[in-house]
Amino acid sequence: ELQAGAKLMTKDYFNCFSCHQQGDKKPEGPESGWAPDLALAHARLNPDWMLKWIANPPSLQPGTKMPSFYPGGPDDILGGNQDAQIRALRDYIFWFGTHPGQTLPGQEAALPAKVSNAAPAPVKVSKKRL
Ligand code: HEC
Repeated sequence: ELQAGAKLMTKDYFNCFSCHQQGDKKPEGPESGWAPDLALAHARLNPDWMLKWIANPPSLQPGTKMPSFYPGGPDDILGGNQDAQIRALRDYIFWFGTHPGQTLPGQEAALPAKVSNAAPAPVKVSKKRL
C-alpha cells in the first residue's frame, strides 16, 4: 500500500511534488508558488482530515489551488479502489514524514531506472537561484 501511495504521487500519476515540498526537495518554479511541505504533514494534520482533504480539497477550502483527483483515480493502482488509493496516499505521506531520507524497497529502482543506468543525476541545488 505504501508503494501504491508512492506511485500515485509520482509524475506518472498525480505529480503531487510539482506543487508540494518534501523536506529538502523543492518543487520547480518560484517559492511563492510552493504548496506546504508534506514531510511535516504527519505532525500537523489529523489523519482523518487528510483523507477528506485528498478526496475533495475544495469541499474543505473553496478556491484552493490543489486540484481534486477524485473521483477519477487510476485503474491500475490497488485495483482502481479509490478509497484504498486515498488511504495509501495518506499513509505514504505519514511514512515518509516519519522516515526522513529513506526510500521504500524498490523505490529507487522504480524511479531513476526509467531515465537511464548511466551516471547518477546531478544533485539539484534549487535554493537561491536569483
Ligand atoms: C497544483 C498544485 C498541487 C498539487 C498537484 C497537489 N497539491 Fe496538495 N496542496 C496544494 C496547496 C496550494 C495546498 C494548501 C492549501 C491551499 O493553500 O490552497 C495543498 C495542501 C495539501 C495538504 C495539506 C498540507 C498541510 O500541511 O496543510 C495535503 C495533505 C496535500 N495537499 C496532499 C496532496 C497530495 C497527496 C497530492 C497528490 C495526490 C497533492 N496534494 C497535489 C497544491 C497542490
